[in-house]
Amino acid sequence: MISGSVRQGSVNAAVIATAAASMPEGVTAVTYEGIGELPHFNPDLDHDPLPESVTELRRLIDEASALLISTPEYAGAMPGALKNLLEWTVGGVETTQKPTGWINPSAILNRSAGTYASLRIVLEYTDCRIVEEACVDVPVPRALLAEDGLVTPGPERDAIAAAVAALVAAS
Ligand SMILES: Cc1cc2nc3c(=O)[nH]c(=O)nc-3n(C[C@H](O)[C@H](O)[C@H](O)COP(=O)(O)O)c2cc1C
Repeated sequence: MISGSVRQGSVNAAVIATAAASMPEGVTAVTYEGIGELPHFNPDLDHDPLPESVTELRRLIDEASALLISTPEYAGAMPGALKNLLEWTVGGVETTQKPTGWINPSAILNRSAGTYASLRIVLEYTDCRIVEEACVDVPVPRALLAEDGLVTPGPERDAIAAAVAALVAAS
């Protein structure tokens, strides 16, 4: 599970944490925390020995049965940190046909549509298998975050759980 935001108190990180808390019994969620430590993608570095952080990223993707992403849009596009992470997956085989979904929590419906349209293009480039039922818009205003850092129980949280269930079912 990957949040495209690195800031404290991120809505997208809260959505990912909520998705992790919504896992069906017997399925373990692993939240990737290293997005801010990855070096800028450089084909000259994309060979053995890989930067340690890239090896770790590819190992975690390889071990995962599926990927779930939640990202903000900044300045009309996906954050550079997320695009950078995805660029590092292009040189590996770990994403090949990996079931993948996303949750767009943009509080204004369709506001970040351009980011998710380009996310689809990038994920297709990395040969991820996009699970349509697990790609959903779930508007989550910041006020909906509870003290425990998760999305408050209600329809939004149910929609996140449904996307998770669809992704698990497709994995
Ligand atoms: C500098 C800046 C630029 C932003 N640009 C956009 C944008 O182009 N489109 C959009 O939908 N939201 C934009 N936003 C709003 C963020 O996507 C929104 O605050 C989101 O909740 C941030 O997610 P996070 O809390 O996970 O970091 C922008 C916010 C900032 C601070």
